[in-house]
Order: sequence, then C-alpha cells, then structure tokens
Amino acid sequence: MPSIIVVGSGVAGMTAALEAVGSYDVTLLTKATLAQSNTRYAQGGVAVVIDNMKDPGAPKLGDTVESHVANTLVAGAGLSDKDTVGILCAEGPAAMDELIERGVKFDRHDGELSHGLEAAHDYPRILHAGGDATGAGIAYALIDRVRESDISVRTQTTVVDLLIEDDRCVGVMLLGGEELRADHVILATGGAGQLFPYSTNPAIATADGLGMALRAGVVAADLEFYQFHPTSLDAPGNFLVSEAVRGEGATLIDADGNRFMFDVHPDGELAPRDVVARGIAMQMAKQPGKPVRLDATALGAEFLAKRFPNIDAACRAQGFDWGEVPIPVTPAAHYYMGGIRTDEWGRTSLSGLYAVGEAACNGLHGANRLASNSLLEGAVYGTRVIEGLKDPQPVVAFDDEWPAPITVDLLDDPEADDVNRTDLQRLMWDAAGLARNGPDLEAAIAELKRCKAPTVNDAKSAEDANLLVVARAVVTSALARKESRGGHYRTDFPETDPAQARHSSVVSHA
Ligand code: FAD
Ligand code: SIN
Repeated sequence: MPSIIVVGSGVAGMTAALEAVGSYDVTLLTKATLAQSNTRYAQGGVAVVIDNMKDPGAPKLGDTVESHVANTLVAGAGLSDKDTVGILCAEGPAAMDELIERGVKFDRHDGELSHGLEAAHDYPRILHAGGDATGAGIAYALIDRVRESDISVRTQTTVVDLLIEDDRCVGVMLLGGEELRADHVILATGGAGQLFPYSTNPAIATADGLGMALRAGVVAADLEFYQFHPTSLDAPGNFLVSEAVRGEGATLIDADGNRFMFDVHPDGELAPRDVVARGIAMQMAKQPGKPVRLDATALGAEFLAKRFPNIDAACRAQGFDWGEVPIPVTPAAHYYMGGIRTDEWGRTSLSGLYAVGEAACNGLHGANRLASNSLLEGAVYGTRVIEGLKDPQPVVAFDDEWPAPITVDLLDDPEADDVNRTDLQRLMWDAAGLARNGPDLEAAIAELKRCKAPTVNDAKSAEDANLLVVARAVVTSALARKESRGGHYRTDFPETDPAQARHSSVVSHA
C-alpha cells in the first residue's frame, strides 16, 4: 500500500487521514495532543447551504449555493479564485453529511439543523454545535473516528523540516533528528496567529508548515493577506467573541454609548470583517484609553448563556456580566488567507508535497475570508487532497491571475542575536498589523534581517525559526502590494487598484 504522512490534527488533517485510511498506509503526526488546534477553538460554525428550507427557526428562507458563492467572492475583495470558491460551496453539503456521519452533532431546532447568521452572509446558513463550541464538536468527533481507525497516530511529535531528494518531497524530519519517509506528505499545520502579540489562536499556531515550505523553496501565495477578527475580549488571552453574537443583534458602541459602525459601512456591525476590525481600531484611536464595547445586553443573560455558553463563561471568568453590561472588545489576529500555494487538489509546487486547510492557499479566500468558511474548507479540501494523490504531478502555473513569484531573502546574519518572539510579535503588530505603510514595512524588513533563526533544539526554537521565516515573507509581500484590499490595508495606498487584482506569490530561492 502507498504511504502518506499527514502533519496536523485539525479538521483538515484529520479529514484527510480518515479519507485516506484503507487505501493508504497513514501516519498522522501532531505536535501537541490531537485536540490542540485552531479547529478545537472555533466558535461560530460552518457556513453551508443545507436544509435551510426546512428550518422553522430561520428568519429568511431560500438560500442557494450561488448566494454562498457570491458572498464569498464579495468578502474576497476581487481576489478569490472562482473555481475553488465554487468547489467549496457546491461540495460543502456532502462534506457536512460526512461530518454528521462521522459523529458531529450540529445543533437542531425541532429535529432540523439550526442556522445562524454571520457578517456578510445574505442568509442564515451557519451550522453550529454546542452553541458556540462548533470546533470542539468537530474535533472530538473526528478524534474518536481517528482513534478507532488504522491510522498510526503520533502526538507530541514536532515536524521540523521536509526531506527532499531529487526535487521531490520524500518525508519529514522530526525534532530530535528522526527521519520519517512516505510516498506523499500532506501539510495541514494550520495558521499563524502567533506572529502577532494579540491573537485568538492557541499557542500551536506558529506557521510551521509554511515556514518549512518556504525554507525548501516551495511557492507560497497571498502572504500579505491576514485577517484580524474585530471582536476579541479586551482582556488577557483575547478570547474570541464570535461574530455570531453580532449576528444575533449585539451592537458596537463608542465611549459615549453611540453606535458608530453605520458611519463606516452601510451594513454596520455586519460589514465584512476587515471593515469592522478597522472601524473598531479607528474608533479606539479616537477615544484613547477608553475601549470600544460590544453591547449584547438586549439579548438577555438567559439567551446569551444558552446560545453562547463558552463566551458566557469566558466573560464571567474575566469579571464581565455581559447580559447586564457591554463588554470591551478589540481586534486580534485570527486567520491567515495566505499560505502554501496549491491547486484545487492540494498539490503544491513540489512533487510529493500537498497542503490543505489554513496552512494552504488555493486562492479561495482571496483578500479576506468570509466568516465560517474555513472549517468548511478543511472538510471539503481535506477530502479532495486524497483524490489529488492519484495524479501527483506538481502543479503551480503562473499566469495573469497568478503572476510569477517575488523572492524573499531568508538569509540570516550569522553575527546577529537569535530572534526574540516577543519582539518579533510587536514588530509585526506595528508594521504588518491592521494598517501598514511603506516606510514601516521597509524598516521591519531591515530589522528582521538583523536577527537570526535559533539553533533548533526544542519545540520552541523550531517554532521561532518558522515565525522568523514567515515574518520576513509577510513583510516582503505586504511591501510589494501597493494598494489596499481586504485584509491588507496600506495607509500610503488606501484605495483598491483594479490593476492589482491578482494574487501574489513568493518563493525563497530565485
Ligand atoms: P488547525 O486546526 O489549526 O490544525 C493544525 C494542526 O497542525 C494542529 O494539530 C497543530 O498542532 C499541528 N501542527 C502545527 N505545526 C506542526 C508541526 N510542526 N508538527 C506537527 N504538528 C503540527 N472557522 C470557521 O470556519 N468557523 C468558526 O466558527 C471559526 N471560529 C474560530 C475561532 C477561533 C478562536 C479560531 C482561532 C479560529 C476560528 N476559525 C473558525 C478558523 C478555523 O478554526 C481554522 O481556520 C481551521 O480550524 C483550521 O483548520 P486546520 O485543520 O487547517 O488547522
Ligand atoms: C467567529 O465565530 O466569529 C469566528 C468565525 C470564523 O472565524 O469563521
């Protein structure tokens, strides 16, 4: 039987592993427990057009796949790849049936699936589980299926590099020096929230797969596009306050108690995420020292505790009674649209190497991801990547939409100090956060050149080495895009330039 190594145990990695087992000899590697992933913490739900006509609780019926496609394209700000969006939305319902079959218990109303509403969706189409614990519902069901399958699982196992022979990926190198070989390697290593000091992501989100790929000369794409969630709790840990709370009617208010988002966008609190995040940041700048607040009091304490039990507990743990008093919120790093460039089958520019989920970029999210489309991406593309193994040629073509890559310099200064994670995160927040500009990005590139990757001798040093590589690629890509679009906002180029409506690619070796 041919063999596969899957790196990562989020929705994308576990879906791929379950899809492959039986036809392939599957090894699933993950650097912490099986449950430690961005997936586990997902709250709002999964966007999908399924059974909406039957939901007696839905305020607006008649949803279509075309509407889901249209909303995704609008959020993507002119950059989403139409083919990969179409696949996501059309194959979503079957992927949800598969998740339900695998044991995920989505919330129901009178026996029918419940549908929530989130920003920039025309219809309530967000399936959720456990109220606001959708990710946990998915993660633990998949873990149970993985545990009872023939998949060989290794937890607490950090992959530090790709093994490459004759221009082909033939396996991975583990922390400690062990080499593991396989016919195919699938990177499902998730996101990069730890590039920034304020993030909704757990500690595992250190862009490892992308870092390894960049070091190996694999093409990455759209690295300037990072999504900042508008509403994390303005308290240590930046606990996510789901967009679904605004979807249920909560409002954003300034220091005087007035709603301000309708001055920014006609859709107010339910405008696209980047717009709301910048709207909050601008309001915070106008009222220094006084937080923007999310007012959910009209929803009532009882409803909030039932519909959002985890957020309710997090608010109360920080001393906020959000049923009675508006809570302070702030934007935080949340989701990476960019990643290892793939085609619609997860194939990368390197033979034998595949990428899927948040670690990958097949262009579907464009410049800004539509809320609740990423769990769906993991489920849909986690399935497709196994189909892609049947035709394993490296696929990355360059054309008008995907121009040839720019080069990022990853060379370390041997005399420099090892990169310090806290300093790197602060630098990234200031230079490559919600608002960027040319001089700050140039200064950040110079600053990142003046440090070096640490010798990899433990999990943290391996992560720091990846964060440094990825940070260099992010600021290089952000400097190159001289316009504002979706998650990439340049104060020196505040307009969207139709002539730049194309993806970006980056590679470390010319
Ligand atoms: P992850 O789930 O992040 O899994 C990555 C895996 O790779 C982890 O197991 C990690 O340990 C492993 N790994 C990483 N590096 C290594 C290495 N070097 N060696 C071995 N293993 C490694 N999306 C939605 O669609 N709906 C939502 O409601 C939603 N809510 C969210 C709420 C929060 C708080 C957060 C943080 C994200 C949310 N998202 C949501 C985004 C979504 O959760 C993620 O984009 C998605 O789960 C990513 O899945 P993944 O499988 O690609 O990666
Ligand atoms: C949220 O619940 O607001 C997060 C949804 C998402 O990131 O898709």
